[in-house]
Amino acid sequence: MKRLSNFALRSAAAALGMMAAAHAAEPVKIGFLVKQAEEPWFQDEWRYAEQAAKEQGFTLVKIGVPNGEKMIAAIDNLAAQRAQGFVICAPDVKLGAAVERAAKRNNMKVISVDDRLVDGSGKPIASIPHMGISGYAIGQQVGQAIATEIKARKWNPAEVGTIRVAYDQLPTARERTTGAIDALKAAGFPGANVFDAPQSKTDTESAFNAANITLTKHPGIKHWVAVGLNDEAVLGAVRAAEGRGLRADSMVGVGIGGSKAAENELSKPAATGFYGTVMISARQHGYETSTNLVNWIKTKQAPPAEILTKGMLMTRANQAQVQAAMSK
Ligand code: GLA
Repeated sequence: MKRLSNFALRSAAAALGMMAAAHAAEPVKIGFLVKQAEEPWFQDEWRYAEQAAKEQGFTLVKIGVPNGEKMIAAIDNLAAQRAQGFVICAPDVKLGAAVERAAKRNNMKVISVDDRLVDGSGKPIASIPHMGISGYAIGQQVGQAIATEIKARKWNPAEVGTIRVAYDQLPTARERTTGAIDALKAAGFPGANVFDAPQSKTDTESAFNAANITLTKHPGIKHWVAVGLNDEAVLGAVRAAEGRGLRADSMVGVGIGGSKAAENELSKPAATGFYGTVMISARQHGYETSTNLVNWIKTKQAPPAEILTKGMLMTRANQAQVQAAMSK
């Protein structure tokens, strides 16, 4: 009887060991969920995440999650496909607690990218590691680039109107445009000439509509500059200015991003009011977040709680060099 039970115990232990090994060897599958799949920035993140998947031999499932309902369905669907985790840029940062719950319920690891998730009181959710841009510092780079260009053009800052295409419900957006406006003020631009143009969504069309209202309200302003959370926001303001005959010689917009939208604009034969952009690293945001998540799944070693990435000013003059430097 004793022998038998020892044997039974040993067999049970062996079976458990085999199960653990099988679990460890289970192929890694992760999701990469983004709020605006049609935006070139998110396409780039996906492209770099795919590169990581190919190089490291894991499976990547890309899903667009334009609203909360689709987001929850996507997370549950990933779990049904036996994915062990996901990277997410949620459609609304206030969905943070819902994301945390859905991940826990499905025993999945989660990392946020671009937009940091917050809890009910607006505080970042500590259990979800994050990679985002250093919003305020990058915003300052935008403001400084505009100030330098205005100086070179010998415009009087007092005669310059600033359009702040605003999306203040998103913390990183507010940080970016605040950094830009602070840098412009520090360079002598009067605060009274800064006009907020709140956009309802973070795309070009919404920015265009918002900037149009601002331009209509202030017909006396001679020169314009524009800042916003991304290239699409600034492009909207640039297109609205063009609609009023304000072209490259009377509008200086500097975006944030450097993906296809900016590249196309900066490659047009003639300069437009889109003077440049602070290019940020889609490679880091796509490749590194996925790699960090996969390592977390494999080794149980959690990535740093917060990684903030840098940007580089890209204009018509240095486009190729900046693109090369930022995609390494
Ligand atoms: C936010 C914006 C995107 C992009 C990323 C970069 O998510 O909506 O356009 O700028 O940040 O982190």
